Amino acid sequence: GPDPSLVYRPDVDPEVAKDKASFRNYTSGPLLDRVFTTYKLMHTHQTVDFVRSKHAQFGGFSYKKMTVMEAVDLLDGLVDESDPDVDFPNSFHAFQTAEGIRKAHPDKDWFHLVGLLHDLGKVLALFGEPQWAVVGDTFPVGCRPQASVVFCDSTFQDNPDLQDPRYSTELGMYQPHCGLDRVLMSWGHDEYMYQVMKFNKFSLPPEAFYMIRFHSFYPWHTGRDYQQLCSQQDLAMLPWQVRPLHQVPGPAGRRQAAALLPGAH
Ligand SMILES: [Fe+2]
Repeated sequence: GPDPSLVYRPDVDPEVAKDKASFRNYTSGPLLDRVFTTYKLMHTHQTVDFVRSKHAQFGGFSYKKMTVMEAVDLLDGLVDESDPDVDFPNSFHAFQTAEGIRKAHPDKDWFHLVGLLHDLGKVLALFGEPQWAVVGDTFPVGCRPQASVVFCDSTFQDNPDLQDPRYSTELGMYQPHCGLDRVLMSWGHDEYMYQVMKFNKFSLPPEAFYMIRFHSFYPWHTGRDYQQLCSQQDLAMLPWQVRPLHQVPGPAGRRQAAALLPGAH
């Protein structure tokens, strides 16, 4: 793949030399068409039936056996088409995130590992799954999408679930405060990797499983929507998050980012 270090050299391309405020910018930027197209497909085709079919398809874990490092290497062949910020292979992102977490939490070795693991579910895209069923922010299916879902106003009009009275109210098919573990999330690398970890009995604390399962649920952990589905346990887990370093809020995040990515921040 391309040399990722070039991406962060501000003299190479002024577009990538942006400050923190301009990350996750979904209204302008050179990668926006690609990002919008991915979300349009996702928000049209991710339905309750679709998600259930993917759980059934991948819930047997019968496709391929590989080590974690083989999965990391495989991600070198993948560029995430939903991400407006990065245009480099995901294996780079895995090490970058792990090293960032090591700097912020030197005592929590399991958390460093979460950084390395968090996107490994994206190997789905290398085995024929479309990107809209692998990458991008996630959202609950089976209820009406809330305002902080990206492109919420312009991408859901062709989703059949929103014509279905069972699935189109604020609660949809859920009980109030049922807990996110009872919510059917749009299918993608978060849920898949969570299921892989559970199936293989990864010896990591519950926070690790939780972070990986919901790390792309920006409408919840960042947008603070979907409170009506959350349990006390969900609220307790909210502070535990793994996310790209350049999005870690506050001066600590900026310091770490600067230490890792000289010149760009
Ligand atoms: Fe991810």
